Amino acid sequence: MRYSPFTDRIAGKGVAAWDIHHAAVVAEREGRDVIVLSIGDPDFATPAAITEAAVQALHAGDTHYAEIPGRPALRQALATRYAELWQRPMAAENVCTAVGAQNALFATSMCLLQPGDEVIVLEPMYVTYEATIQASGATLVRVPCPAANGFRLDPHAVNAAITPRTRAIFLANPNNPTGVVLDASEVQALAELAIAHDLWIIEDQVYESLTYDTAHLSLAAVPGMAERCVVVASLSKSHAMTGWRVGWVIAEPGLIGHIETLMLCMTYGLPGFLQTAALAALDCHDQVTTQMRAVYRRRRDLVIASLGDCPHLSVLKPDAGMFVLVDVRRTGLSSLDFAWRLFRETGVAVLDAEAFGAPAAGFVRLSFTLGDDKLTEACRRIRGFVEGL
Ligand SMILES: Cc1ncc(COP(=O)(O)O)c(C=O)c1O
Repeated sequence: MRYSPFTDRIAGKGVAAWDIHHAAVVAEREGRDVIVLSIGDPDFATPAAITEAAVQALHAGDTHYAEIPGRPALRQALATRYAELWQRPMAAENVCTAVGAQNALFATSMCLLQPGDEVIVLEPMYVTYEATIQASGATLVRVPCPAANGFRLDPHAVNAAITPRTRAIFLANPNNPTGVVLDASEVQALAELAIAHDLWIIEDQVYESLTYDTAHLSLAAVPGMAERCVVVASLSKSHAMTGWRVGWVIAEPGLIGHIETLMLCMTYGLPGFLQTAALAALDCHDQVTTQMRAVYRRRRDLVIASLGDCPHLSVLKPDAGMFVLVDVRRTGLSSLDFAWRLFRETGVAVLDAEAFGAPAAGFVRLSFTLGDDKLTEACRRIRGFVEGL
């Protein structure tokens, strides 16, 4: 028996990146003393009002098929939020709900790309992008955002990577793992390239509300981008709702129609009681995200303060998100060896950031999704590990 070549295309290196995390989860389940900083899953409980909205919807019998792109009220609520953020008209027809941002990214890729297309990705990039893009048959063209440049993009390098086959630029803004948020000139430069070369931009904004020191600027807000910018986001990070799998795509109505057709074949839409919870989440959006942002900012600063003066390490302060990149090159270990030895010798699980692309080789990614005490202890163990090398 044989499988389709599709299975090869979705088996990227990113899949193996999670090995250390899976080992840590197993160790934790066995009751071993581990601190899992290898995944971006907030430790907060989902705010009670949101959970309550879902429970009430279930009790009220909201257990049947729901509209595939999402119910009008939810689509409209999302359209209203983005109309305010981007200062341009938006309607329910610009929105399709999805089973988390990942499902939204996959559906977007399948509806926009085909074999022979080239897609520019800015590395480091989120680990699922490789498989998500390759699933469509398109080819990734990797443009490095070098560590020496603070992992910021070089618009000239993006320009140089564009060929007649280029169809899209795929990026996360804010970025995971680097926490870089595009500044106004970077947003403008990418928008100009997209318009000049008639490209789609797929902008993954799952960390949009966790931006600390700078304002988040979306490519979708730039004049001329409405018809070519596809924004993907979710409640996973903003509302500590990773397990609820509520996400969406914001795009021009033609693409939304195609994504709806694909969702019909893949998910048959987001369950109705989750849509009710999503509406409740949007209702308290600013209140919830303001609180979360404050806690994450404090934790970020705690990690920076705890590891900032650790010999042989350099810690990068992220502008956004829930991750810190730590440069381990001066320890003499590769980032993969560092991560595995740290885990085996101290129980602290971090990810080798090279899994996110070659520019992040020599860095490990720590998530600050645990409380202050655990983070402090994790930093203490990391310091002890490095000092003992
Ligand atoms: C950049 C980025 N995009 C997408 C996702 C997936 O988000 P969701 O849980 O909404 O599918 C993640 C999760 O970590 C992420 O970091």
